Amino acid sequence: NSIQKTPGPAEACLSAEHIARQYIIPCMKYYGICLKDYFLGAGLGDKVREEVEALNNSGKFRGGQLVSQKSIPSGRIRGDQIAWVEGHEPGCESIGMLMAHIDEAVMYSAANGQLGNCVINGRTKAMVACYPGNGTGYVRHVDNPNGDGRCITCIYYLNKNWDVKTQGGLLQIFPEGKNVVANIEPLFDRLLIFWSDRRNPHEVKPAYATRYAITVWYFDAKEREEAKQKYRLAAGQKGVQVPVSQNSNT
Ligand code: OGA
Ligand code: MN
Repeated sequence: NSIQKTPGPAEACLSAEHIARQYIIPCMKYYGICLKDYFLGAGLGDKVREEVEALNNSGKFRGGQLVSQKSIPSGRIRGDQIAWVEGHEPGCESIGMLMAHIDEAVMYSAANGQLGNCVINGRTKAMVACYPGNGTGYVRHVDNPNGDGRCITCIYYLNKNWDVKTQGGLLQIFPEGKNVVANIEPLFDRLLIFWSDRRNPHEVKPAYATRYAITVWYFDAKEREEAKQKYRLAAGQKGVQVPVSQNSNT
């Protein structure tokens, strides 16, 4: 009598080990992309959404920056407004819990070489992003085209009753060397994970309603060390490394 229950809408599965074994490890191996719905469950998911809305309403968001072409107005390339969150700030407690849950799932997955040669030793802060719904998106790009150390992108979506037909905002991933497109709807309580390098070019289609997402990038120890030697890393937040949380609260 040890039948494993499948997590469903009524019950979020916060077992990091289960998510790692059932979803992240096999999907990253075969597709380089992994999707997990009902990641936090409605209770905590709602609180994260409320914190993000409060951040936005308090004017904490700024135009998303481009790493390379600082002279080009970024709005034509990416139309999102962003805020960087560590997770300990007042009013960001639920975002902090989300980050701890993602940390745990990713660290379980990467343990014992289960994610290939990816050895994770840190991550960025959380980038909270809002596309205001004015028809902007994010043109096709690769998160880490030049070996800056980031190996895994995790995006958590916060949009209830999202209808891509009328509201747009679809994420399209074009896996390198495969004749397929992954169409990802930015649905509430959905966690998306993919390799950050050239294997996964992607774009955000124009959004016509407020579209929220929270992104964290995990660093590969070796690539990160080499990147530090190679470049004087720009002082942007994507270059700020923080430790993965210990003893997350599950
Ligand atoms: C990014 C990005 C995708 C999304 O911020 O680099 O590609 O679906 N976001 O929000
Ligand atoms: Mn991206």
